[in-house]
Amino acid sequence: MVKLRAVGERDLPLLVRWVNDPDVRHWLHQSDRPDATVESVRGRFGLTEEAFANFVWMIETLGGRPVGHVGLLRVDPQHKRAELAISIGEKECWSRGYGTDAITTVLRHAFEEMGLRRVDLHTDADNARGIRCYEKSGFVLEGVMCERRLRYGKPLDMVLMAVLREEWLANRT
Ligand SMILES: CC(C)(COP(=O)(O)OP(=O)(O)OC[C@H]1O[C@@H](n2cnc3c(N)ncnc32)[C@H](O)[C@@H]1OP(=O)(O)O)[C@@H](O)C(=O)NCCC(=O)NCCS
Repeated sequence: MVKLRAVGERDLPLLVRWVNDPDVRHWLHQSDRPDATVESVRGRFGLTEEAFANFVWMIETLGGRPVGHVGLLRVDPQHKRAELAISIGEKECWSRGYGTDAITTVLRHAFEEMGLRRVDLHTDADNARGIRCYEKSGFVLEGVMCERRLRYGKPLDMVLMAVLREEWLANRT
């Protein structure tokens, strides 16, 4: 359903709009941070040299419309692990399967091309759509991280989910 491509300078205004959309940032650590700017987003999306351990891709529909981004962050070659981050910034595109398809594509790359062993993520414990999407993509719930972040100043539980290479290879269709 989707194509992934490198993030470029031309994407920065769109990424800023998505990150600053209240309905999107509600689910992100951004909920309690100052509004994103082109400068802050440039660093976060791997367009600076310091961001070498972060791989981020734009998610496009097959028709070429950018709808979100997905990344492998803090890639650790020694322990062969990374953290997955994803956001579909265009709200009307939620729950249409784009997230699952993009994650499946990234996991294939992580396990078959990059040789990673483990990919994990954390998400808000009340993000039912996200959790369902990650389960469909092969992630397994590992635990609850109590009061891990603040949302509008109030502590919020998050869940830790992970997928291991061997499990993913055994379960893929
Ligand atoms: C979370 C997110 C990446 C998931 O991507 P997506 O393209 O919407 O996900 P998919 O369509 O592949 O899968 C979503 C699943 O959740 C289901 N779902 C939707 N709302 C739900 C709810 N309230 N409760 C339970 N399941 C729900 C959908 O029906 C679908 O499952 P199905 O295919 O079995 O019907 C995307 O919705 C998003 O970016 N949301 C806003 C920001 C965010 O939450 N980012 C992630 C932070 S960790």
